[in-house]
Amino acid sequence: MLNLVERAAGETLTFEERLAKAAQTVDHRLGELLPPVDLRPSELHSAMRYSCLAPGKRLRPVLCLLAAQAVGALPIRALDAACAVEMIHCFSLIHDDLPAIDNDDLRRGRPTCHVQFGEAVAILAGDALFALAFDTLARVEGDPAAVLRSMRVLTHAVGSDGLVGGETVDILSEGKAVDRDTLDYIHTRKTGALISAAAEIGAILGGGTEVQIRKLREYGEKIGLAFQIADDVLNETGTSEQLGKAVGSDRERQKATYPALYGLEASRVRALELADESAKLVEGMHQEQMLTAIARYSVERLN
Ligand code: IPE
Ligand code: IPE
Ligand code: MG
Ligand code: MG
Repeated sequence: MLNLVERAAGETLTFEERLAKAAQTVDHRLGELLPPVDLRPSELHSAMRYSCLAPGKRLRPVLCLLAAQAVGALPIRALDAACAVEMIHCFSLIHDDLPAIDNDDLRRGRPTCHVQFGEAVAILAGDALFALAFDTLARVEGDPAAVLRSMRVLTHAVGSDGLVGGETVDILSEGKAVDRDTLDYIHTRKTGALISAAAEIGAILGGGTEVQIRKLREYGEKIGLAFQIADDVLNETGTSEQLGKAVGSDRERQKATYPALYGLEASRVRALELADESAKLVEGMHQEQMLTAIARYSVERLN
């Protein structure tokens, strides 16, 4: 249990196996932290569990665990914080899919929360996940100053200068010609902010030095942007079976994306460059190999 992403003695795990193992640990803990469906209001708790436990990649929580390990701590130190980050991510997916935002019907290979439970319950399930994330983080045991700092990092990452700000500019930019600066504003906030916060929080709770915390935050910023560029590319080139969500929708809605502004090839090249730059930031840290592999996976993934 403690050796979430470590190689056990004599055991040789591939990158995918290690990722899957860490994701499984996160899912198990999420299952404990999310309210049970038999607790009133059952419909709300069902919707929260439906969205949050659906098969996602769990990239953000795994990064949080790895960042704690990168600074020499056991991953268990960051497990509840990692779950809090995934709860925020799931809140953002539920609200992003709503008719008023992206109006999507498919997420993680299943009907979206509002399709399954109705719009009102979906909005409220997102709200409740948001609250549960901060409740979970506030209860993390350890240095109270580190916990408080983590909460500040997460609130900033989600707020009007982070994910919610990015989502706002994303929606307000639909159908408009955006410049490069605005595109980067959207991507670094709607996606980069939470990915970066995941790594930074892991480093903070793992007791990292200021230099380590900064490097892991910057590593997260780079793979966060790369991850969203890859997402833009997959929206053009992938299939909905492969991605578990709609494809071609960015073009239909005239979204501000990297392929729209730079073309597919230049977008791929930029994402790879960012992955390489991110890898340089974690040179010499524990888990360097795994962190480098995650950076590549963020841009080379097929879903
Ligand atoms: C989807 O994120 C939303 C974006 C930021 C592109 P993920 O691709 O990490 O979604 P899941 O968690 O695997 O479903
Ligand atoms: C990604 O939004 C960021 C958030 C969900 C906050 P997108 O709208 O670009 O991602 P998908 O394609 O719906 O997963
Ligand atoms: Mg969106
Ligand atoms: Mg969307």
